[in-house]
Amino acid sequence: MRVQAALIEEKGGSFGIVELELEEPRADEVLVRIVGAGVCHTDLVCRDQYFPVPLPCVFGHEGAGVVERVGADVRKVAPGDHVVLTFKTCGNCVNCKKGAGPYCLDLYGQNFSGARPDGSTGLTRGDHHVHGHFFQQSSFASYAVAHESNTVKVPRDAPLELLGPLGCGIQTGAGAVMNSLRPNAGSSLAVFGAGSVGLSAVMAARVVGCATIIAIDPQSSRRDLALSLGATHALDPTQDDPVKAIADLTGGGANFSLECTGIPSVLRQAVDCLLLTGVCGVIGVAPLGTEVKLDVNGILFGRTVRGIIEGDSVPDIFIPQLIELHRQGRFPFDKLIRFYPLSEITEAVAATERGEVLKAVLRP
Ligand SMILES: NC(=O)c1ccc[n+]([C@@H]2O[C@H](COP(=O)([O-])OP(=O)(O)OC[C@H]3O[C@@H](n4cnc5c(N)ncnc54)[C@H](O)[C@@H]3O)[C@@H](O)[C@H]2O)c1
Ligand SMILES: [Zn+2]
Ligand SMILES: [Zn+2]
Repeated sequence: MRVQAALIEEKGGSFGIVELELEEPRADEVLVRIVGAGVCHTDLVCRDQYFPVPLPCVFGHEGAGVVERVGADVRKVAPGDHVVLTFKTCGNCVNCKKGAGPYCLDLYGQNFSGARPDGSTGLTRGDHHVHGHFFQQSSFASYAVAHESNTVKVPRDAPLELLGPLGCGIQTGAGAVMNSLRPNAGSSLAVFGAGSVGLSAVMAARVVGCATIIAIDPQSSRRDLALSLGATHALDPTQDDPVKAIADLTGGGANFSLECTGIPSVLRQAVDCLLLTGVCGVIGVAPLGTEVKLDVNGILFGRTVRGIIEGDSVPDIFIPQLIELHRQGRFPFDKLIRFYPLSEITEAVAATERGEVLKAVLRP
């Protein structure tokens, strides 16, 4: 079928709207009419080739939509179902088998190869194949083909056009708190970077009952939003030394911290601000090969630094839970979202990069 899609043709290039041919779904695949697709920083990281996803490629990995057709072997969803598309895992490696899908040994191949795991691509322009299957969806398009396993069925009465970002950025921030760090009620958490990921962590910290929630961001509008979403304090790192300010606010250091910027010097602060025995979760993405400097004695006395992918989410379970929290008014992630038509993706991305928009959602 003919589809409209946003294509990146060269490193750092701009998104061009093109018509492509999309293959029918294979036996284990699902064709989804996209209703909304969030822009995640990771789409831009791949446009800029921090991760060398082959080009030309259709990105987009926070798709939500309606199932149009399914392959013969698909059991999980049927035409007409509402779905959120998320990351893909192999299902067969040792980590997948033990239920740690975000740490699938083939996570890169399943999500960043620009093709299906078997190397094929279902997108063509004229006689030429175009890379797609980004996170096995490439949802910056009017229609996307996903694998059954990274398709999550969601309730019909939920606001579908809002839900795409639950597939990556929002489940990442919320899951980092609710699934990975699991802070006790009453504990303290410092969140470095109040973008859509960091603010999702702030909202989740309120849900689980953290007593002290400190958001750190140089942008005043983001600090204000953090305070309105449940942060108890907000710090401007260009004015205050966050490490010292956090020690003062928590009586010696935070129990938990999250690094949501991808900046190595911020990761250092996120470790140094911890109470001894505290845990720092690393979420921000940096170019391959980026190194960070830590003080050995800063971690020797019991601090933990751990990477977190996709908030340790089991999406079929966690995404419906976040939808229910949103319905109850306890996880108001809609406050982060601004809609754009897919045809205005260039403006949506520019506004995102200027820091004016937290989470752009593109509507074909
Ligand atoms: N680990 C994962 O599974 C995963 C999943 C999704 C996104 N990510 C990554 O998470 C990161 C955050 O994503 P996002 O969409 O929220 O991005 P974003 O760009 O909206 O947020 C980053 C925030 O950091 C702030 N910042 C800049 N300098 C700072 C400093 N010195 N101290 C504190 N804050 C500072 C910025 O003002 C911005 O608000 C990105 O690197 C993204 O690629 C990781
Ligand atoms: Zn695996
Ligand atoms: Zn993402």
